[in-house]
Amino acid sequence: MCAVLITGGAGYIGSHVNKLLSSQGVETVVFDSLVTGHADFLQWGEFVAGDLLDPAALDRAFAGPPIHAVLHFASFIAVGESVADPNKYYRNNVAATLNLLDAMVRHHVSGLVFSSSASVYGEPEQELLDEEHPMRPLSPYARSKAMVEQMLEDYHRAHGLASCRLRYFNAAGADPDGLLGERHEPETHLIPLVLQTALGLRPHISLYGTDYPTPDGTCIRDYIHVHDLAHAHALALDWLEQGETRAFNLGNGNGYSVREVVETARKVTGRDIPAEEAPRRDGDSPVLVASSARARAELGWAPGFGDLETIIRSAWDWHRKDCRN
Ligand SMILES: NC(=O)c1ccc[n+]([C@@H]2O[C@H](COP(=O)([O-])OP(=O)(O)OC[C@H]3O[C@@H](n4cnc5c(N)ncnc54)[C@H](O)[C@@H]3O)[C@@H](O)[C@H]2O)c1
Repeated sequence: MCAVLITGGAGYIGSHVNKLLSSQGVETVVFDSLVTGHADFLQWGEFVAGDLLDPAALDRAFAGPPIHAVLHFASFIAVGESVADPNKYYRNNVAATLNLLDAMVRHHVSGLVFSSSASVYGEPEQELLDEEHPMRPLSPYARSKAMVEQMLEDYHRAHGLASCRLRYFNAAGADPDGLLGERHEPETHLIPLVLQTALGLRPHISLYGTDYPTPDGTCIRDYIHVHDLAHAHALALDWLEQGETRAFNLGNGNGYSVREVVETARKVTGRDIPAEEAPRRDGDSPVLVASSARARAELGWAPGFGDLETIIRSAWDWHRKDCRN
């Protein structure tokens, strides 16, 4: 039987996808260096320890059960760090992906699902972003994602490598069974930071920019539950059979402001969450909300957790448990 290879399967999103695919009877092989991943997230499938920068380690990953497609999550993810240390990001996100693509060509594997990001769009020209919006990435992290998307188009042309480029908006929430959740070190995402504040692990949450042209002055983002992202990956594996390369946005199409996130977290947790106003950060767009019409029409995908309160509640259940371990 054929298997799928999951790079970065010990991380937040990759581990949720591994769990879902395994529950659907798909054989999985996780390839991860654990540089930011977690051994306790490795609960399904086979594990091959290794770094994408090491071609010999990659060959080991393809040496087990025959691989029919790759899901590529492994990368560094902190936008601010990428500005301070671009080499780290171009090496790990671009050069390492080149190694992976060459290993796929060597091992005759012709389909890849790639974790891209809404950050490839940069400053939005319209409120609801579709895939035709120009890509003007604002940071080395975002540029690394745009570069890999370009590489995938070139590998499709040259080697017939099919790829599904999934542009996630803000991933959030946790496994409904409570086995997995978001654990980044350092944490840079709003919902975990707010919940860590609710747990007393941080003194306050900073509201970066309160004078944006939005109803309450704070930035608006589209939060997508990690379980819905996982479903999109399962559908993307089927879509790859067409042999094409294409980008798809994955978001709910609902925008929530930073103040709304904090307010909803106060309601869900029943705790005081001190918030402090802070200056705007460079590169933050006022509003980023997805049109996922293409994913709905072509992948047959529909999010099941559209409501912010449900997303935050699942994250809260996880963070409360995780901080006790
Ligand atoms: N979290 C979000 O909101 C979000 C939004 C848009 C896109 N993404 C993308 O989704 C993907 C997964 O994000 P995440 O939040 O799960 O990140 P994560 O840090 O939790 O997981 C990344 C995993 O990749 C592994 N890894 C990194 N470099 C590696 C290498 N060179 N070789 C082998 N393993 C390596 C890490 O050990 C880790 O397990 C990333 O590509 C990220 O850019 C995430």
